[in-house]
Amino acid sequence: MKSEHKATLSFSDGSPSVEMPIYKGTVGPDVIDIRKIYGQTGKFTFDPGFMSTAACESKITYIDGDKGELVYRGYPIEILAANCDHLEVCYLLLYGELPTAAQRERFEESVKGHSMVHEQMHFFLRGFRRDAHPMAVLVAVIGALAAFYHDSLDIDDPESRRISAVRVIAKIPTLMAMAYKYSVGQPFRYPQKNLSFAANIMQMMFGMPTEPYEPNEVLVRALDRILILHADHEQNASTSTVRLAGSSGANPFACISAGISTLWGPAHGGANEACLVMLQNLQKQGGVSKIGEFITKVKDKDSGVKLMGFGHRVYKNYDPRAKLMRETCHEVLTELGLHDDPLFAIAMKLEQIALEDDYFVSRKLYPNVDYYSGIVQKAMGIPVSMFTCMFAVSRTVGWISQWNEMISEPDQKIGRPRQLYTGYPTREFIPVKKR
Ligand code: SDX
Repeated sequence: MKSEHKATLSFSDGSPSVEMPIYKGTVGPDVIDIRKIYGQTGKFTFDPGFMSTAACESKITYIDGDKGELVYRGYPIEILAANCDHLEVCYLLLYGELPTAAQRERFEESVKGHSMVHEQMHFFLRGFRRDAHPMAVLVAVIGALAAFYHDSLDIDDPESRRISAVRVIAKIPTLMAMAYKYSVGQPFRYPQKNLSFAANIMQMMFGMPTEPYEPNEVLVRALDRILILHADHEQNASTSTVRLAGSSGANPFACISAGISTLWGPAHGGANEACLVMLQNLQKQGGVSKIGEFITKVKDKDSGVKLMGFGHRVYKNYDPRAKLMRETCHEVLTELGLHDDPLFAIAMKLEQIALEDDYFVSRKLYPNVDYYSGIVQKAMGIPVSMFTCMFAVSRTVGWISQWNEMISEPDQKIGRPRQLYTGYPTREFIPVKKR
């Protein structure tokens, strides 16, 4: 990276000033290269939660939080959602360009060819309780892929990385569907090569051995859009986890498993499940008539209640994915004759009231991707406990693309943050008899 400008850090304690290069990206905030600060000053920078820290350089995704824009490899999410399917977006995120028809066909064949899992993994699932949260199962079985596919774990070999990327993109839907089938006591379904990526997910989840399964095209398209919208999102918590895990040289399946663990939290990918539960509770308590009371509780810091599906570290405007998700929600509810779905009505009213309330407006809190995704998935028959699993199925391509970008960097280093220590100074040990 070239630097045209510099920043100078000066100290009131007489320490010598430090000059730091400033780099410009294609778009977005400049960065100040602080890597030499500790060596030159003996001081660390301090940024818990990484509010002002760029942890890496990347060419994959860009978010303009103020404008509410999301771009994958230079293409706005609205354009991709309207013109591509998930596999095409996977190719774009992985390789940096939209595929030609021939490239797309070869990529799809490769993904379909890897969509089955080793038969032994069927027994692996049986070790879990039937009522285990499917995210707990997914964390385990994705990490366990390293126990079955160790022939593509040489992270220094680009071909090995390519095969691992295709394998994890192809197998996580199959394993996610197996986790669901196991939870409802139904037999596992094998992936079908004659179906699209999204249609195959639907048949593996909802198909039964007693009758042929005909996917509903509107629902398949809706699921495909959900997969596109969740595919990547810069250096969010789970992607940063995958990068940090990968920086130690851990195998890609272990890194993706770590990402799934982070995604599970209600502040991150678990928000879609938490948001639907919030809407269902509002419905039980009286629905739209109780929204005012609920908003009052949210604004009361002591209540500990948050408006799930609202707010974002980067978006200080409407999350573009939330707009597309609301459209998808409307299409699905109309297709299913649920346009008067009470949860959708509550969500729309809650959004309207919140966006007129200064508490939310002044804090720039808008609906994010998780606000409507739960309603549409529930309408499609996907159980609440599976929402974050579906998010993980989609985000796998983002995680593995970011992991690959990092591992491919010639000067890639292990991530090892420092700290501000405020614990005890070294002190005398007191034997237990004298304590
Ligand atoms: C995802 O990073 C990504 O890109 C994530 C993601 C992706 O695609 O990978 O976009 C996916 O995780 C979306 C976010 C899903 N999470 C939720 O919907 C959970 C509810 N949202 C909040 O937990 C919160 O908004 C976060 C975690 C998303 C962002 O938190 P920040 O940036 O740390 O902001 P903050 O907690 O410091 O909040 C700033 C202020 C605070 O009030 P004050 O102290 O200034 O008075 O806004 C308030 C917060 O209390 N606030 C909320 C709120 N979110 C923030 N108040 C009520 N309800 C909320 N949802």
